[in-house]
Amino acid sequence: MFIFTHATQCGWYSKFLEPVVLEINSGPIGITLDIGTGPGTLPLMLKQVHPTISIIGIDPDPQMIRLAKKQDKKQQIQWLQQTLQTYAPSKIERPRNIVFCSMLYLLTEKEIEKQIRQALHILHKEGQILVLSPKGDFRIWKAFIYVWQYPFSWKNYTYFFWKFFVSFRGRFWTRKKYLLKIADKFNLTYDSKIVFQRQAILEILKPSNQ
Ligand SMILES: C[S@@+](CC[C@H](N)C(=O)[O-])C[C@H]1O[C@@H](n2cnc3c(N)ncnc32)[C@H](O)[C@@H]1O
Repeated sequence: MFIFTHATQCGWYSKFLEPVVLEINSGPIGITLDIGTGPGTLPLMLKQVHPTISIIGIDPDPQMIRLAKKQDKKQQIQWLQQTLQTYAPSKIERPRNIVFCSMLYLLTEKEIEKQIRQALHILHKEGQILVLSPKGDFRIWKAFIYVWQYPFSWKNYTYFFWKFFVSFRGRFWTRKKYLLKIADKFNLTYDSKIVFQRQAILEILKPSNQ
């Protein structure tokens, strides 16, 4: 647990999340919903770039929500301890961006589909679903080269743990192309970008009537 929270406080972790911030910034700004927000790193990054943006971070883990609230010193973000299944916004509160960072790739195929179906149910009609996942790489030795390219911190040891722990599941996710299959099933447009120095994949789903 503390390894993960240390990781999210590092410059390398911000670099990992940065493509999502850029993607949200490049489109019309509406409500952003961050599913499985953890300690709230992404909402806090977004708020720094866009002080007026409306963001909701949800996570079923009370410890994570407590940590997120603690980090949000100005109390600018709405943090909710719940899952997407119990989240029901009104019509005018439908999010334009629904984000899953480092989360869907940990679930089973059935759970992934359930999450996407639920996300589509509440998404703004011109909205998008952004999914950021580690790509996985067995060449863990590369971490010794890359780590010097990120802002220095003693907590950068977490980068080595991350490389190791996401390597298998990340490769599995990239190979299975679950979201491409789901896009086909739900008639969505699918786009993907390889980001974070080829260490992560950002996948974007949109209703095809846009
Ligand atoms: C690896 S962390 C990622 C945290 C954050 N998105 C980030 O990138 O820093 C995964 C998070 O997903 C949350 N989570 C697990 N299952 C979930 C579910 N069904 N719905 C929402 N969040 C969930 C966990 O509590 C955890 O905080």
